[in-house]
Amino acid sequence: PVNTINFTVNGEKYSVGGEVSSCTTLLDYLRRYLELRGTKYMCLEGGCGACIVNVTKKPGEPSQSVNSCMVLITSCADWDINTIEKVGNRKDGYHVLQKALADNNGTQCGYCSPGWIMAMYSILKNRRPTMLQVEQSFGSNICRCTGYRPILETFKRFSS
Ligand code: FES
Repeated sequence: PVNTINFTVNGEKYSVGGEVSSCTTLLDYLRRYLELRGTKYMCLEGGCGACIVNVTKKPGEPSQSVNSCMVLITSCADWDINTIEKVGNRKDGYHVLQKALADNNGTQCGYCSPGWIMAMYSILKNRRPTMLQVEQSFGSNICRCTGYRPILETFKRFSS
């Protein structure tokens, strides 16, 4: 149908149409409709990074971090979206970034951890960043336990 939006989440194809309100954000869709609750919410205004997912908007384009609280599901046509559940999980095994963050005590309450992982994962998908680029990327996420040092030390291990 003309008014259907198609996209992929974690390798699965989805279509949405009239059954989903046009006010639904990507974050709401992931959590409420797909029950992917590893993507967190906090500020709901693009400032904290708890809701970051990885998106490739068109095949061949670089992938990027997207604050899913700031995007309506109607904007996601043809996007390839990956969430923390795809990156790593208990059943299939954790991603090297997740293991490193946990091993280096980079999670405290843990609420912001998926967003941090998804931000760094999105960078690493395109290139190996320099240490400076890792530091500069830290503007995208907030840790309210203020445990920035171990997170930074962990992610610098993945820099060039
Ligand atoms: Fe989306 Fe804070 S909940 S940036």
